[in-house]
Amino acid sequence: MNYKFPQIQEVASRLTDPEIIKQQGKTILRSPELGKLFAHLKEMDSKDRAEFGQEINQLKTELLNMIDNQEDELTVLDPIDVTAPVDINVSSEKHPKLLSSSNGSRHPLMTEMDNILDIFYRMGFSSLESRQIDDDFHMFESLNFPKGHPARDDYDTFMTTEGLIAPAHTSTMQNRVLIEGKKLLDSNLPIATVLPGRVFRNEDVDARHGHTFYQIEGIYVDKGINTGNLISTFKTFLEEYYKQDMEIILQPFYFPFTEPSFEFVLSCPFCQKQGCNVCSYSGWIELGGCGMIHPKVLKMAGIESDIYTGFAWGFGVDRLVMMKHGIEDIRHFMAGKLEFLRQFS
Ligand code: DAH
Repeated sequence: MNYKFPQIQEVASRLTDPEIIKQQGKTILRSPELGKLFAHLKEMDSKDRAEFGQEINQLKTELLNMIDNQEDELTVLDPIDVTAPVDINVSSEKHPKLLSSSNGSRHPLMTEMDNILDIFYRMGFSSLESRQIDDDFHMFESLNFPKGHPARDDYDTFMTTEGLIAPAHTSTMQNRVLIEGKKLLDSNLPIATVLPGRVFRNEDVDARHGHTFYQIEGIYVDKGINTGNLISTFKTFLEEYYKQDMEIILQPFYFPFTEPSFEFVLSCPFCQKQGCNVCSYSGWIELGGCGMIHPKVLKMAGIESDIYTGFAWGFGVDRLVMMKHGIEDIRHFMAGKLEFLRQFS
């Protein structure tokens, strides 16, 4: 745009430069050059004053239009390719800062799972990971929960529309291990297997209960096995794991797949029964269930229950690890917080 007054033309040719507009944005309207033009306007005689004022306003309008157009340009973004990896869509200076692999560490549950499996391995147990999706037969029927059995309600978990189940306990593996283990019994070897795995429950989450956690199941079958063997196996394992003497109590309980059934309680290894927030100040902690394998469960796997007996157990790995490290809230394991995880690196 051309201006009649040379002073205005001069300021206009300097300020209407797209680069300057980009740098200054709306502050350009308060620039000293414009200020000087207004100062000059006041000193002018009335002959040209109106026209000069009009041209200053025209220049301001021109500048405002240029600013508006540039803002519009800035807000038009390239379309995002939603299927592309993050580095195509995010401009390079905004890339997330990735930790180098030397800064990462193993999750405490996995480190402890290795420790646990190592102890059982040294005690003569083999191990097999349990499934994260299973069926009604392995979750219930093979464990002596016939259809409609009220104890099914104690295992409220998640189910797919096809009827598959996210297992609420690692006991889902018992039937498979017993069927496979029959060959060992036939060659005069015991069945001795531990089954670590992830389990799922439709549970209100709090400091002691998660909807997803880890269990470790154990099975031992041979001739002449009794509850004394069960207690000594646990005691040996726990004393090795916590590196201290432990007291164990079996309280009568009910599970359809064991007879007799027990709830397994141990002295708090964190406070040695003094009372602390890990054991809710009781000195004792309930760790899981156990019992002598029900004859029907053995029979369903083709094992003669009048010749062979065995014990089984299932306990929560998260709880075991919480007691080892004095972790007061089970939710820390899943929270993905680096402050928590780095304490174990
Ligand atoms: N599956 C049981 C639970 O999660 C725990 C359990 C009890 C496992 C007795 C066993 C057992 O193997 O014999 O509640």
